Amino acid sequence: MSKPIVIAVCNQKGGCGKTTTVAETGACLAMGGAKVLGIDLDHQCNYTEALGHLDEETPGAYELLTGKKRLEEVVLESKVQNLYFVPASIDLSAAESELMGMIGREHQLRIALASAMDGGYDYILLDNPPNLGVVVMNALTAADFMVVPVQVYKFARRGLDRITNFYNNVKHFLNPDIKDWMVLPTLLDFRREKDVIMLAKLREQYGKKVFTSQIHVNSKILESQEVGSPVVVMDKHGAGAKQYKSFACELTKWVTGVGAAS
Ligand SMILES: Nc1ncnc2c1ncn2[C@@H]1O[C@H](COP(=O)(O)OP(=O)(O)O)[C@@H](O)[C@H]1O
Ligand SMILES: [Mg+2]
Repeated sequence: MSKPIVIAVCNQKGGCGKTTTVAETGACLAMGGAKVLGIDLDHQCNYTEALGHLDEETPGAYELLTGKKRLEEVVLESKVQNLYFVPASIDLSAAESELMGMIGREHQLRIALASAMDGGYDYILLDNPPNLGVVVMNALTAADFMVVPVQVYKFARRGLDRITNFYNNVKHFLNPDIKDWMVLPTLLDFRREKDVIMLAKLREQYGKKVFTSQIHVNSKILESQEVGSPVVVMDKHGAGAKQYKSFACELTKWVTGVGAAS
């Protein structure tokens, strides 16, 4: 059985579209026939809620990261066929400090996911908290690729350099097998002149590291998260769905292309 492709969606900033990207991309890939597992690594539980799961007591990412439960024991079925997920709970906020006391703390998720080899997953998507702490180190240590959503309006080179330096350190010290990273422009609003300028700057400075696909502000995305269903399901012909489908397509080509080349 082939190994799943693990993609960590990271940015130390909050509100740049990490959770939305994991929710929508996971649903797109699953609707396209892939078997997908999404893991909520943020104790704010936004991904878990975006999939309509509101029970805070269910064991999930905290138990997985701290070795209290195996992957098979914490995976739930979502409402989308082929899409499975590991929920987060508020307990996850204790994971950082618990992991700090453990030897091999950065490798816990990678070890826990080893059993995903038997799960038949094609993709595992990791939704991360807005920091560069030990949980994010675990995500990148388990990952093959990193996607960095950047809210174009707030793009700052220093912020992006911070996360890519972090990636380079994880690659050097913890996970030489991680293959590449790319940036996804999000929350674009061309009614603001600044967005046009900043997008051009981002593309000029980072060139091929920026996906051609870009995600615009779309009120249906907000609405879909409120009702606990991805926009690619709720409003499948809308602009938000089209943009995320285009991104999922580009993402698939990138990860399978790089995977095959390496
Ligand atoms: N394309 C979009 N259009 C409109 N609202 C969006 C879009 N992407 C994300 N949002 C909203 O912006 C907020 C932050 O997005 P989120 O994905 O939760 O970011 P992060 O996980 O990086 O904190 C959420 O309320 C989300 O619903
Ligand atoms: Mg989030």
